[in-house]
Amino acid sequence: MNLILLGPPGAGKGTQAQRLEESEGLVQLSTGDMLRAAVASGSEIGRIAKPIMEAGNLVPDDVMVTMIEQRIDRSDCANGFILDGFPRTVAQAESLDDMLRRTGRRLDAVIEMAVDDGILIERISGRFACADCGAGYHRRFRPTAVEGVCDRCGGTEFRQRPDDNEETVKTRLAAYHAQTEPLLPYYREQGILRSVDAMAGIDDVAARMREAVGAARA
Ligand code: AP5
Repeated sequence: MNLILLGPPGAGKGTQAQRLEESEGLVQLSTGDMLRAAVASGSEIGRIAKPIMEAGNLVPDDVMVTMIEQRIDRSDCANGFILDGFPRTVAQAESLDDMLRRTGRRLDAVIEMAVDDGILIERISGRFACADCGAGYHRRFRPTAVEGVCDRCGGTEFRQRPDDNEETVKTRLAAYHAQTEPLLPYYREQGILRSVDAMAGIDDVAARMREAVGAARA
């Protein structure tokens, strides 16, 4: 099964992709994580992406398409993947369609995570992650069980993303509305768009996501 999670910054795509990865046995492909790894490694792609990400804008389509094409080709994606953060423009969606057609694969569902803009700033500004294993948390909505200690690896160092500040989030939201929202009618026309109300708590949204995936499997 091949899925796309579509939603604005802070909608919970990463949080829910990790849960679906475990429950459905799929591989999460987060283009944001791939880009952050490229920035950390100082690669050519990282050098291109760093200032664009820090400003909250979108990295050029050709860079993103090449990156995802190479990743989808790897053997761990053979049983299915969850795209988290890709595609983000109609041009990226068209390239993905071509890529899947060429390799005899298809998308089973595109799940829109619908959230009002008003709560996104709070979700994003409270987000932090373990510096060792990358496990994601939120100061209010998903704190560590023991304060200052990662639930997953016991690490005690945490970090915040440089693009998680109010000003950049506004630019990221504007980019979502202008460049990514047109994907909703694009996938609706293909008959594979499902919408999940993602305003509830993490566990309730997870239950709705599993329901949407189950309906797509049926
Ligand atoms: P990316 O890393 O993809 O960021 P994003 O789309 O802005 O999404 P986020 O990671 O901020 O949010 P999320 O929806 O995953 O929310 P999360 O689960 O963490 O991209 C970063 C940048 O890279 C882009 O701006 C762009 O520059 C570039 N880029 C990436 N892909 C690209 C592409 N294809 N083309 C061009 N450029 C690209 O949740 C947020 C917080 O809320 C967490 O703390 C979580 O614990 C909490 N939370 C989650 N769900 C709930 C809930 N239901 N209730 C309460 N709290 C919740």
